[in-house]
Amino acid sequence: MFWWKHKRALVIGASGFCGTHLCEALHQKGAHVIAFDRAEPNWKLRVPFERGDILDFSALRLLLERHPVDVVFHLAAQPIVSTSIILPLETMQTNVVGTFNVCEAIRLSSTRPPLVFASSGAFYGATNATEAIGEDDPAQEAANIYAPTKAAADLAVRSYAKTYGLPFAVCRWMNTYGEGDLNWSRVVPATFRRANVGLPGLIAATDGTNVLELLHVRDMVEAYLRVAENIERPKVKGEAFNFGGGEPLVLKDVVERITRAWNEATGQDVPETPEILGGRVQSAKYLDIAKAKRVLGWEPKIDLDEGLRHAAQWYQAEMGPLK
Ligand SMILES: NC(=O)c1ccc[n+]([C@@H]2O[C@H](COP(=O)([O-])OP(=O)(O)OC[C@H]3O[C@@H](n4cnc5c(N)ncnc54)[C@H](O)[C@@H]3O)[C@@H](O)[C@H]2O)c1
Repeated sequence: MFWWKHKRALVIGASGFCGTHLCEALHQKGAHVIAFDRAEPNWKLRVPFERGDILDFSALRLLLERHPVDVVFHLAAQPIVSTSIILPLETMQTNVVGTFNVCEAIRLSSTRPPLVFASSGAFYGATNATEAIGEDDPAQEAANIYAPTKAAADLAVRSYAKTYGLPFAVCRWMNTYGEGDLNWSRVVPATFRRANVGLPGLIAATDGTNVLELLHVRDMVEAYLRVAENIERPKVKGEAFNFGGGEPLVLKDVVERITRAWNEATGQDVPETPEILGGRVQSAKYLDIAKAKRVLGWEPKIDLDEGLRHAAQWYQAEMGPLK
């Protein structure tokens, strides 16, 4: 708790779902937070905000000189898989070139603050793993363009750390959910949105037997903080860490649990069995979080059903009827 008192943190991608939660947690812990994003702050961002684009290298350089910080969190991205297929070059520009810009702006800055980077389980590409995936498993090809952009950025951040001896580290996340996520293509917001109009969840791309995992955004924030607090340690500097819910889940059960949570939180009676339109897709991805537990003492704390019920309350109360 006291570690953050009066520390200065820059959060890039602060207007987004995860960035907003991270800014809020840092602020509550007593840190001085500068939020940076190309989009206006939405929802509940309560810290000083600077508007700018990570593709504008000069703006990043100026930002770092105007705000000498103790740590930079870089979360800005085009994070939607379906958008990456429609806009591959834009996705590459933001996710890869933008991340190089952040690394290079830090390298050239007078203070060279540590960097914590938001990577993704997408790093591991299209997998059908029977066991949890470890950090040393290789990046693989995927059936989308988002994955290689995150893999390239992930490698760039760690290569910057090794080449220039900079205290940079990488966090690989799996599907994160919670209050405030307005990315409607993701399974939790998408299922709540349908539940709000009385419809069961929809699984369009698969038959629902694929395996995934979910992580609550507050567990994610705690992990970001642990990485930043420990980033100068040799076991953290230049390293990548997997973070996930720690439990493999089958998609159709997940969608059912999301709708059940909605019903329990709102008193509604939406059919819980999802509508399934897709065919069989061999896909299983869940991350081995042993390294995060061992090195950072981190593990997920928030029970999935409880986290979903809280999130359901937020979506109903804050968003109103989504018809
Ligand atoms: N939410 C998840 O489930 C999840 C899982 C794995 C990895 N991640 C990674 O975590 C990070 C945050 O994800 P999120 O869910 O909060 O996404 P989000 O879309 O809610 O937030 C991303 C933010 O980045 C900003 N941004 C995009 N391009 C920018 C640019 N060129 N310059 C400045 N700002 C820009 C957007 O305006 C947005 O506010 C991303 O890097 C994403 O790849 C998220």
